[in-house]
Amino acid sequence: MALLELRNVEVSFSGFRAIAGLNLSINQGELRCLVGPNGAGKTTALDVICGKAKVARGEVRYRDRDIGGFEEYRIARLGVGRKFQVPSVFKELTVRENLRVALCDPHGVFANLFRRDSGETAERLEMLAKLVGLADELDRPACWLSHGQTQWLEIALLLAQNADLILMDEPTAGMTGAETHRTAELFNQLKGKHTLVVVEHDMSFVREIGGVISVMHQGRMLAEGTISEIEQNAEVKRAYLGSGGISNA
Ligand SMILES: Nc1ncnc2c1ncn2[C@@H]1O[C@H](COP(=O)(O)OP(=O)(O)O)[C@@H](O)[C@H]1O
Ligand SMILES: [Mg+2]
Repeated sequence: MALLELRNVEVSFSGFRAIAGLNLSINQGELRCLVGPNGAGKTTALDVICGKAKVARGEVRYRDRDIGGFEEYRIARLGVGRKFQVPSVFKELTVRENLRVALCDPHGVFANLFRRDSGETAERLEMLAKLVGLADELDRPACWLSHGQTQWLEIALLLAQNADLILMDEPTAGMTGAETHRTAELFNQLKGKHTLVVVEHDMSFVREIGGVISVMHQGRMLAEGTISEIEQNAEVKRAYLGSGGISNA
């Protein structure tokens, strides 16, 4: 059964239909890349899933319940985490402190900062740091991290908050080739345990991820398939005309 299903979803901005009858189905544990030319509606699609954009028509079904129209905080509480292009880490805090805050949210930010970690918290904290490649940076202030490391810390924060469905908008933008490769490895490690929907332009990254790719165009799903299937799809080629083709988007 699908964890997430968009059924004929429409989103309008002052009469302009940015999403115009979008269908999308994602299974539990899947890692799905969402691609499409500029203005296709990819960011708006993530916005409507996390409740940032309002559904005008159709259904956003998560765990078989229509969450379209729910407030953002309610959707977040159901386990939907969104990573934005601008990271929301606390720059003045260390990596450890950022993780500590995310791990123990119910106690409040300040209580978490000054509390001693229980064995379990310390273990989870270190496991998360290791997973995202920040085990050696735990006591560094977040403002000292590289761009790529900051993105990884933010992903770790989503994991710490028990996000089950993670939505990411161009997570590798601005990363070096090595960082992009490392991010693909990380996502491949996360799939199965978490469900990830990743909007991405970088086709070398999409290739490393593999699996099913969804191509959006003009607010709709244009094609779905493996990378070679979508690269050979005539409609996809047409949609990317003028932007130098799918591999140069
Ligand atoms: N807040 C907004 N107000 C008006 N138009 C918007 C807004 N957000 C997005 N759009 C329009 O909706 C379309 C889809 O945008 P977006 O989802 O950002 O596309 P993508 O992420 O695929 O580049 C674009 O034509 C964009 O200009
Ligand atoms: Mg976008």
